[in-house]
Amino acid sequence: MKIKFASAPAKGSIAVAAFDKAELSKAAKDADKASGGAISRAISASRFKGGAGDTLVITAPSGIDGDRLVVFGVGKKKPDGNALEQAGAALTKAVLTSGETALAVDLEGIGDADGAGRFGLGAMMAAYRFDQYRTRLSDDKKPSLKTLTIATGDDSAAKDAWKIYGAVADGVYLARDLVNEPSNFLRPPEYAKRIEKLADLGLEIEILGEKEMTKLGMHSLLGVGQGSVAESKIAIMKWNGGKKGDKPLGFIGKGVTFDTGGISLKPGQGMDEMKGDMGGSAAVVGLMATLAKRKAKVNAVGLVGLVENMPDGDAQRPGDVVTSMSGQTIEVLNTDAEGRLVLADVLWYAQKTYDPEFMIDLATLTGAILIALGHEHAGIFTNDDKLAEGLSKAGQATDEKVWRLPIGPEYDRQIDSPIADMKNIGEGRLAGSITAAQFLQRFVNDKPWVHIDIAGTGMWSGSKDARLPTFGTGYGVRLLDRFVRDNYES
Ligand code: BES
Ligand code: MN
Ligand code: ZN
Repeated sequence: MKIKFASAPAKGSIAVAAFDKAELSKAAKDADKASGGAISRAISASRFKGGAGDTLVITAPSGIDGDRLVVFGVGKKKPDGNALEQAGAALTKAVLTSGETALAVDLEGIGDADGAGRFGLGAMMAAYRFDQYRTRLSDDKKPSLKTLTIATGDDSAAKDAWKIYGAVADGVYLARDLVNEPSNFLRPPEYAKRIEKLADLGLEIEILGEKEMTKLGMHSLLGVGQGSVAESKIAIMKWNGGKKGDKPLGFIGKGVTFDTGGISLKPGQGMDEMKGDMGGSAAVVGLMATLAKRKAKVNAVGLVGLVENMPDGDAQRPGDVVTSMSGQTIEVLNTDAEGRLVLADVLWYAQKTYDPEFMIDLATLTGAILIALGHEHAGIFTNDDKLAEGLSKAGQATDEKVWRLPIGPEYDRQIDSPIADMKNIGEGRLAGSITAAQFLQRFVNDKPWVHIDIAGTGMWSGSKDARLPTFGTGYGVRLLDRFVRDNYES
């Protein structure tokens, strides 16, 4: 689907807004009149209330020269960006496979140019599909909607906003494609190849293989991939859009392309979802693509650790001790707590090599974060209150919400090992997400750092939010794009 902007509404099928209590916008009143009161009648015959995300589709209306007259709710008279996203998403969902091919949305007087961009972003998020492996999908099940034209009165301002939100939508699509991709098509070498292609966007790409990582002493990461025939990789993406000499913002992602648990094998039930255990890396890749596409005025570096966690005759065993690049030794008591082992070396390498302004890592790290926060909030853990505040604000602004949980030396006892510098799991099931974060902190020194546990938010089948139509949500791209835009580009 394509988003277009116009200053005046086009002819054909149209969509008009309503507010709370099903109050009609000016465009809706006009359409109601033109259609001989079809909207008023449809509203009284239905439960449409005009809330953000409510829709009403009138097919073959008389007096309107298109096949559809759609009313979409935006809630308040001055809807915020999230309400507009929800409206755009719900509207798109309502007509995506209806047979309609083009819809003209009248947004004049509702929100500003930024709001029009958010409306378009919501529409794109709802139009996302992952269909490439469906060879027998009948034509009437395929999306029919090809263009959504948004009229705002000032299309040039809206087009400027779309330079940002169009790039965000592209980043979200890329991240979702990566998360939804089955693991037989996305093992670390293939993943690294896809990242290399992003050089076309102006990103500088570097790939480390097992030889280089061995030289660097990254035995914590390498131990995780030891049971896989696929070579482990680290992919590095650099965007230099800021001032020369400004420290880059650092983004680090867990890219376990499949997590069987290794020798500490996971139960079969639901194991398929572990194709999404690279969601943190997907968010970093999507973010870097977005920053490049919208030519963000910052320097940033993204690093993703790509490994496959498999059981094998040569796999790492529970009880093994590995030496990380930092020199710290780790007793691997559970091979299923592998994400922290990967991140330990990538975090260390990132700060040694790039001395970033801060490090933000994203990882589908613990099942425990799902117990604590469900799919609705990501957990954040940080040594820096200001970063926490900035991320919370960005989370509110984008609806990619975060909730801060504690870390601190009182949790260290849980991960101390009697035979090595630390062990990779805590005691029993207590504070599982926190002990994982506490482990990571041992590899960040005193760099300002945030760990975002996205095990719940990065994968979500069956969300009721029209913006999240598939398993891979792309969580993190919108959050971090906004965080960067609000705090590092002005
Ligand atoms: N990738 C999993 C975490 C996960 C679980 C993500 C469910 C999404 C949904 C991670 O590698 C893992 O297995 N963590 C273990 C840690 C435990 C062994 C200390 C967990 O959460 O059970
Ligand atoms: Mn695991
Ligand atoms: Zn994992």
